[in-house]
Amino acid sequence: MSDRLYIFDTTLRDGEQSPGCSMNVEEKLRIAHALSALGVDIIEAGFPVASPDDFESVYRIASEVKDVTIAGLARAVSKDIEGVAKAIQPAGDRGRIHTFIATSPIHMQAKLRMSADEVVAQAVAAVKQARNLVAEVEFSAEDAGRSDDDFLCRIVEQVIDAGASIINIPDTVGYMTPDEFGLKIKHLRERVPNADKAIFSVHCHNDLGLAVANSLAAVEHGARQVECTINGLGERAGNAALEEIVMILRTRADRYAIDTGIDSTKIVSTSKLVAQITGMPVQANKAIVGANAFAHESGIHQDGVLKHQKTYEIMTPESVGWNTNRMVLGKHSGRAALKARYKTLSVELDDAQLKVVFARFKILADKKKDIFDEDLQAILSEDTEVDMERVKLVSLQVTSGTQDAPVAAVKLDIEGVEHEATAQGDGPVDAAFKAIQSLVEPNGKLLLYSVNAITAGTDAQGEVTVRLQDADSIVNAQGSDTDIVVASAKALIAALNKLPNMHAKAVHAQYSGV
Ligand code: KIV
Ligand code: ZN
Repeated sequence: MSDRLYIFDTTLRDGEQSPGCSMNVEEKLRIAHALSALGVDIIEAGFPVASPDDFESVYRIASEVKDVTIAGLARAVSKDIEGVAKAIQPAGDRGRIHTFIATSPIHMQAKLRMSADEVVAQAVAAVKQARNLVAEVEFSAEDAGRSDDDFLCRIVEQVIDAGASIINIPDTVGYMTPDEFGLKIKHLRERVPNADKAIFSVHCHNDLGLAVANSLAAVEHGARQVECTINGLGERAGNAALEEIVMILRTRADRYAIDTGIDSTKIVSTSKLVAQITGMPVQANKAIVGANAFAHESGIHQDGVLKHQKTYEIMTPESVGWNTNRMVLGKHSGRAALKARYKTLSVELDDAQLKVVFARFKILADKKKDIFDEDLQAILSEDTEVDMERVKLVSLQVTSGTQDAPVAAVKLDIEGVEHEATAQGDGPVDAAFKAIQSLVEPNGKLLLYSVNAITAGTDAQGEVTVRLQDADSIVNAQGSDTDIVVASAKALIAALNKLPNMHAKAVHAQYSGV
């Protein structure tokens, strides 16, 4: 049995299905580059037929992200399969079509309204079609966890004969327990006559908190591809967390004797990037990537760690990318140093982007002595395409305190014309939001507002995530600044810029500029 586990990352597809986590094409590209640098084997870049934007993201990722297999998802229907083939075409022989159909009784009867024979026939036809278009085809039996094992054996045998070389067994609803799921994989591998012609894969959801445990049980029984996401993002309670699987295999190599191609020192920066872009913060006590994952509070623990790190640490924070490369830049650093530092964070900046980011870096370095990697990620998370922004913040003045109601006065440049407004609010952020939103329409319903201190210290940048909804879209955006009211205003404006039909409110008085 091979001692190599393939990591199939589906942050950009299943992860994006987390409520409110939709990303735009540029954001997906940034994550895809980071995943490639992290060392994942396969990036599931999206579901091309879902929308023109989904198609474009898969196409751009297939064109621009090298050294990794690019997969696209397709239902077992002709138009989806053709869509994936077109979207992954720039990846050449690194492209994979991932096609699926449900196999559990409840899905076949209630959702598909198809007989078991019809499901097998459709799966086989889909795999054959896909195999005529690309060299590598993955087949998923959706809701395999609740599917009958005899039926699974039958369909798996036939799709392997039809050309599928990766067989994915999803626990779609997170219902399985580790023992059961491990045995399911064992039986399939033993009973399907042509099982040796395919790699068995698993895709576990976390509804009962067992996604990682179930994935590892499957690995113990011969699964050699695990589908997972950064920070465990995904539908409902999410998918198996990549960082946990990788670090369990590495930390407990004595037990598993199987490794991945992941560069674990890039885990934390990738996790932060995904959290920033999706606006889905990581809980502090989350394994591996939570802020407290390596923090020792009790005196007994601190004493132990000081005497010998291994008393309370089973892996080092450095091994997953905490505390590495702290503070490399300050106000005297130049463009080349900044560009190089971003490169170590797996971000390639072109000249135009570097110009914008460097200007932001200088402003920040004037306010804050030590610039950390987290700060660099944060200034990058603000939209780097500033010239494309229809609304820009010109100035913001807020008064607040214990006596009077907070008041914000804002001046915005909306498509080249300055507009200003003043508003009162329950707090300074509320006042600033009311002032900004009074100047544009549609101005979005605020679904989420969250603030994080990016680094330690009172001069830390606050990073604000805002999620807005209008009639047709939900958008996320971030803003960062050492002043959290300004960070909030930047985040709101960045989100407004993402609403396709947003424009200046006609009734508002224009500011003369003098
Ligand atoms: O959870 C699931 O079954 C899926 C499949 C499409 C692989 O996401
Ligand atoms: Zn899934």
